[in-house]
Amino acid sequence: MDLIRQARARLAARLVVVTGASSGIGRAFVEAMAPSGARFVLVARRRELLEQLADHVRDSGSHAMVQALDLRDVEAGRAAAEEVLAHHGIPEVLFSNAGHSIARGLRGLVARPDSVTRSVAANFTGPVCHALPLLGAMCTRGGGHFIATTTVDARTSVPGWSPNVASKAGWDAWARSVAPELRSDGVATSLLAFPLVATPMLPPARRARARCAMSPEAAAEWVARAVVTRQARVAPWWLRPHELLHAAAPVLTARVTAPFSMRLVDRG
Ligand SMILES: NC(=O)c1ccc[n+]([C@@H]2O[C@H](COP(=O)([O-])OP(=O)(O)OC[C@H]3O[C@@H](n4cnc5c(N)ncnc54)[C@H](OP(=O)(O)O)[C@@H]3O)[C@@H](O)[C@H]2O)c1
Repeated sequence: MDLIRQARARLAARLVVVTGASSGIGRAFVEAMAPSGARFVLVARRRELLEQLADHVRDSGSHAMVQALDLRDVEAGRAAAEEVLAHHGIPEVLFSNAGHSIARGLRGLVARPDSVTRSVAANFTGPVCHALPLLGAMCTRGGGHFIATTTVDARTSVPGWSPNVASKAGWDAWARSVAPELRSDGVATSLLAFPLVATPMLPPARRARARCAMSPEAAAEWVARAVVTRQARVAPWWLRPHELLHAAAPVLTARVTAPFSMRLVDRG
């Protein structure tokens, strides 16, 4: 709770852009920060959910604007970012969190190659094209904070989840690569490598069974921690050894993972 209070204090009167605000982690973060007095720009496709959240934010004493758009449309993403800069100014925080998870095995991908192109557009090229104008303006001003949602799987291999893992790996690598450039212009970067979180992204059956999944509220505390500490990566304690194992024995770890990760493929 302390982190939530400190993050609220940090965000008071600041402009904060949150993508993926209509649901799950993004929504839980905005709800937790609603009494902060921040000026939120809420981005996702479902306008009705964004408008409901904006009403809640306003009732709690902050400001909220809604941008309903599909980030896979890179021109729409760029235009939305330019609109923020033109009408509201340069954000203090960009929480780039929107994403879409498609689990489809190789055989399924043969008939549905769009699973790959849709994942890359929602998880990589779309978020990058939306972030670029905002990050460029933050660099020119010389300050700000880029918080990017990634996943514990981004630097490993997960059979059956190749569209999701590959597109998130691209996003994770992109964010890590621009971080030093941003830092030299005074902009901090934090990567949030989430494990399972019990949001609508998980199918209901899996959500019910996923006893080890974090709650969206706990995930929102991770975002608050990033806001307060500006640490480069927020991740579970076991992620480093997990990644080292995958780096040291990639074929073996993928084989061991396959029977578990292939159980829920072919949806999305
Ligand atoms: N849940 C997990 O276990 C887990 C684990 C690791 C990482 N993550 C990551 O956490 C982030 C948030 O996911 P979540 O768990 O909170 O799931 P969620 O409840 O499904 O939220 C996803 C958010 O992204 C938005 N979004 C998806 N596609 C979009 C598009 N094309 N254009 C604009 N907005 C789009 C959705 O809004 P609309 O549908 O209204 O557009 C929604 O607000 C994602 O990047 C996800 O990959 C989740």
